[in-house]
Amino acid sequence: MRTLSFVPPPPPPSSASIVTSSIRALRLAIPFPSSPYCNLSRKREGKVEASTRMAENDGKDDGVASKSKLAAHVDRIRQRFHGQSTDGWEKCWEQGFTPWDLGRPTPIIQQLYRMGALPKGRALIPGCGTGYDVVSIACPERYVVGIDISEIAIKRAIQLFSSSPNTNHFIFLKEDFFTWHPTELFDLIFDYTFFCAIEPKMRVAWAERMSGLLRPEGELITLMFPISDHIGGPPYKVSISDYEEVLCPLGFKAISIMDNELAVGPRKGKEKIGRWKKIRSNSSL
Ligand SMILES: C[S@@+](CC[C@H](N)C(=O)[O-])C[C@H]1O[C@@H](n2cnc3c(N)ncnc32)[C@H](O)[C@@H]1O
Repeated sequence: MRTLSFVPPPPPPSSASIVTSSIRALRLAIPFPSSPYCNLSRKREGKVEASTRMAENDGKDDGVASKSKLAAHVDRIRQRFHGQSTDGWEKCWEQGFTPWDLGRPTPIIQQLYRMGALPKGRALIPGCGTGYDVVSIACPERYVVGIDISEIAIKRAIQLFSSSPNTNHFIFLKEDFFTWHPTELFDLIFDYTFFCAIEPKMRVAWAERMSGLLRPEGELITLMFPISDHIGGPPYKVSISDYEEVLCPLGFKAISIMDNELAVGPRKGKEKIGRWKKIRSNSSL
């Protein structure tokens, strides 16, 4: 059994339990003090017991064990980088070291899709890896673009999903998020395990790209992980303030920030889902 922070896939919960737990989560949303970066109030979900057992070691990790596993995991990824971030990712893919890959869509994004709670139009998933999330939210009302800097990841995604029934509603492109300039903007961007994958010094540039790629009033959904206090990365530790610090000065407003109770296995308690609206464009800064 692998017990890394980027964990292998446990069996999916039934859709009934997902919907039930989501409704409980929404009911338990409580006000949250305003932040030093944004003049707004956020919502935080109360503590909710997950109704589904999602991994063998769920709830059994004490803090110390969990921290040392995360540190070991960070070390293993870092070994493939040697200070060169783009090559490092390709090396991970080449060597089949992809512990972040759930091998299925991320439960919370699937749930939002099923509930009809995602903006329609054009969606982008940067650092999409093998693309499960891309395919899971693509439909006639939503065209989804998945980009990844790794050629191997993109080839794998294309191979996996070229005969999906919704193949006309998504595309995979080998692109660098920081330099790519699409011809059309997006109504929705979903970031999961991408913000934590880039070096913290790139976070301002990350926010600028998010702002540049979204239409006014577009929505950015960030599944914030790992909320921890480990040192180094990738994955680099994240906090709500890390996102606010770079997004709010660009005119993003947090619509909601909740614990992700559908987080998988050891990621439980280390994830929050943030929904951000782009209220004004960069030019008004
Ligand atoms: C931790 S993995 C997460 C993959 C996917 N989101 C998932 O959860 O399975 C980070 C991904 O970001 C990609 N990546 C890193 N830097 C990138 C960049 N500048 N532009 C696009 N993709 C990038 C990597 O190749 C890798 O596939």
